[in-house]
Amino acid sequence: MRVWMFRTWKTASFCFLRNLCMRRRLRKGGDSINSFMAWVGGKKALRDEILARFPRNYKRYIEVFGGAGWVLFHKPPGNDFEVFNDFNGNLVNLYRCVREQPEALRRAILPRIKDGAVVFDGLMLDSSRYDCIKIIACGSSYHVGMVGKYNLEKLARIPVEVVLASEFRYCDPIIDSRTLVVVISQSGETLDTMAALREAKSLGARILSIVNVVGSSIARESDDVLYTWAGPEIAVATTKAYSTQMAVLDLLAIYLAGQRKTITAEDMRRLTSAIAALPAQVEQILSNREQIQYYASQYFNHDSVFFIGRNLDYALGMEGSLKLKEISYIHSEAYASGELKHGTISLIEPGTLVVALGSYTPLFDKAMSNVIEVKARGASVLALATESHRAEMESRVDGILTIPDTELMFLPLLGVVPLQLFAYYVALQRGCDIDKPRNLAKSVTVE
Ligand code: M6R
Repeated sequence: MRVWMFRTWKTASFCFLRNLCMRRRLRKGGDSINSFMAWVGGKKALRDEILARFPRNYKRYIEVFGGAGWVLFHKPPGNDFEVFNDFNGNLVNLYRCVREQPEALRRAILPRIKDGAVVFDGLMLDSSRYDCIKIIACGSSYHVGMVGKYNLEKLARIPVEVVLASEFRYCDPIIDSRTLVVVISQSGETLDTMAALREAKSLGARILSIVNVVGSSIARESDDVLYTWAGPEIAVATTKAYSTQMAVLDLLAIYLAGQRKTITAEDMRRLTSAIAALPAQVEQILSNREQIQYYASQYFNHDSVFFIGRNLDYALGMEGSLKLKEISYIHSEAYASGELKHGTISLIEPGTLVVALGSYTPLFDKAMSNVIEVKARGASVLALATESHRAEMESRVDGILTIPDTELMFLPLLGVVPLQLFAYYVALQRGCDIDKPRNLAKSVTVE
């Protein structure tokens, strides 16, 4: 089914339900669905456009327009009414991958936690042999590296530099045998990343890769590999590979911090128990996706979006912005909030959409002051906050996405899920080819 959201009026969003190829699913829904089927006229009518509206305050109902006016229907249990087919009735792989994240994260995390500590079977890494870490990657994998820098430096107290693989090749890198190079790649075949790996290796660095595709070129040429076990990712834009890469890098940060004794055994227990809880917390976020779909219906026709945040929220914004632009074709940029005053704020005008990321609680007050700043210039603000800070943020913004509270270092892993869904629902409403965005390839094997 495809939803053509075309107008928001007072208390409801109006849309055409089009191409209702999920008829089989609807049938499973019981009485309410049978009555829906009968009312819209059976198979033939279901293939036509149907005017519908989603009342703002009715989470469990949809209203459909027919000869007799608006009729209220129960949404079937299990969210059968949600949008997960594209215009041609195909399952959107990206959406399926988003939904698979709890399972993928379980595979990536749980086998690596034993007795309150992180265990990497077969990894012989003596961190005392390294003075610094360089993380090398492209695209979303690079954004994982940005999150990793904050977490590795904070937890393991080791200097980390994150470098774009395409730049690394040409920057005469300062690397020797006391450098640990962490290469991140979903496909394990990205040409720039592969070339950077070879360059770093030739300079004497040890290569530890975080890879999804088993037996890929990058995995084969690395000294050590940590697989993400996300499973095949068919959509061009990454989702579950991104979150599992981050989980593995977070585990590595805890592992190195344990080795370097920069955290206590008690810290280790607390962090491992928090990371093991993430899959269930992602499930919780996924179950609130209706709200995210609603916001997408409000903002899908914006031409330009700015993601702002500080620290981990800045790194998260980079990914949120990339996801939105690559699948919905909306121009989108991510900025460190502190940079707004250095130029970007001149682009904020009445109606500009700003996605204000305020999940990193130590800097929540700063996030709030940036919200006030852009609101004063007329921006529409969609915010992201933890549940504990929801109330404070909600009163100041136009819309709010929330994530459960967790240890600070894991916030981006939860925060990315609503941003993925937001990008997905926006792209769906704009009629984009979500799994195969124009001009993009899943694996970039040319320069
Ligand atoms: O397979 P890799 O992780 O090496 O790919 C890196 C990028 O090409 C990739 O993350 C790209 O940015 C995706 N389109 C992001 O969704």
